[in-house]
Amino acid sequence: MPNVLITGANRGLGLEFARQYSADGWNVIATVRDSSPELDELEVRIEQLDMRDLDAVEGFGERIDELDLLIANAGTYGPKSVTTEEDARGWSETFAVNTIAPFLLAQSVLAKVAASRGKLIAISTRMGSIAENTSGGFIAYRSSKSALNSAWRSLAIDSRDQGVIAAMLHPGWVQTRMGGPSAPIEPPESVAAMRQVIEGLGPDQSGGFFSYDGSEIVW
Ligand SMILES: NC(=O)c1ccc[n+]([C@@H]2O[C@H](COP(=O)([O-])OP(=O)(O)OC[C@H]3O[C@@H](n4cnc5c(N)ncnc54)[C@H](OP(=O)(O)O)[C@@H]3O)[C@@H](O)[C@H]2O)c1
Repeated sequence: MPNVLITGANRGLGLEFARQYSADGWNVIATVRDSSPELDELEVRIEQLDMRDLDAVEGFGERIDELDLLIANAGTYGPKSVTTEEDARGWSETFAVNTIAPFLLAQSVLAKVAASRGKLIAISTRMGSIAENTSGGFIAYRSSKSALNSAWRSLAIDSRDQGVIAAMLHPGWVQTRMGGPSAPIEPPESVAAMRQVIEGLGPDQSGGFFSYDGSEIVW
């Protein structure tokens, strides 16, 4: 059975990824800061990982034997605006969680993903598209995800020779704690669609930024 590593799997999209891959018979390694009753119900391996702990993230690969798929899903919104020193510290933490930690984790598991000619997926957001930003605001969140896209694009290019496929996905606007109750899509629909996109990714799509419906998003 293939192996998938999912970060931020206690709730929201990460929990739904864990649910669907596990139901399909995959071996799921689910990372959390704290587990949840919903995750505890699943037959998955749960590992503690706070994405702000960059030492633990960097060494995480040693805790895994084989890996076919990484879903770097854990993410945070950060401060809504950046006007105070405290906001600035929040922006910095948002970068650690949304940008630096996913990249470090991908590097840490790269040899194992390469051994299975597997895939590295970053859950990004359309809000990280600079070209599509016509409404402004959300400095910390937007900039951290734009930078994630930039790093992941290089990762795709740098790992191409090892047979690895890397891509960034936008899940849609989804009903989670982050997406809020007005979001038009529920997690099962978004995750099922993203899984289909992931399944269909080949070397020609590596380095791309896609919406959950498979359409490409401009940088
Ligand atoms: N929902 C949407 O509409 C939407 C749209 C575009 C992109 N996204 C992206 O989708 C991903 C999942 O978000 P979601 O909608 O499922 O939101 P969510 O319900 O708020 O879940 C966020 C997840 O990230 C984890 N997380 C946050 N900070 C962390 C840290 N320091 N270390 C480890 N885990 C941490 C949370 O764990 P805790 O419970 O421990 O905080 C939680 O599991 C995010 O990357 C987000 O940017 C979502």
